[in-house]
Amino acid sequence: MALLNVLVAPDPRLKVKAKHVDIVDDEVRRLMDDMLETMYAAPGIGLAAPQVGDARRIIVIDIAHDDEPKQPLRMANPEILWRSDEETTYNEGCLSLPEHYADVTRPREVRVRYLDHQNEIRELHADGLLATVIQHEMDHLQGVLFVDHISPLKRNIILRKLAKLKRSKVPEPA
Ligand code: NI
Repeated sequence: MALLNVLVAPDPRLKVKAKHVDIVDDEVRRLMDDMLETMYAAPGIGLAAPQVGDARRIIVIDIAHDDEPKQPLRMANPEILWRSDEETTYNEGCLSLPEHYADVTRPREVRVRYLDHQNEIRELHADGLLATVIQHEMDHLQGVLFVDHISPLKRNIILRKLAKLKRSKVPEPA
């Protein structure tokens, strides 16, 4: 396994629409595992492939607390089958928007279909935090960040701060 470089916004690679995965094979499984390792190290509770510069429809999630056994979810081609009318609001963060948080309102429950790490089709009913994280990570596959759900004013403040922070740092290796 390997730690991957997580892209920080603003970055054009975070704005692309990710591509369908044909089959979850060893190469995709390796990427999923590397993404999980990267997410745990950050630490974070979700990560989407575009955040590590891979424009494929792959996300990983684990919302278990530190003192609980790990519950990793590996999803390729996630698809929302149903969303509740009832909504819930969480103060969201994102590894691509480090140190920034904002309240985002989304459907409280979702039913999602995906390919798991064994290339098996699965369905999952999620509510609360898990439903929010699934929707947040799926947004990344459309080139959408949580700041795209808040006011343009707040969004621009966050993106400008991050752009400034990036300019003050040594450029990333290619
Ligand atoms: Ni994110």
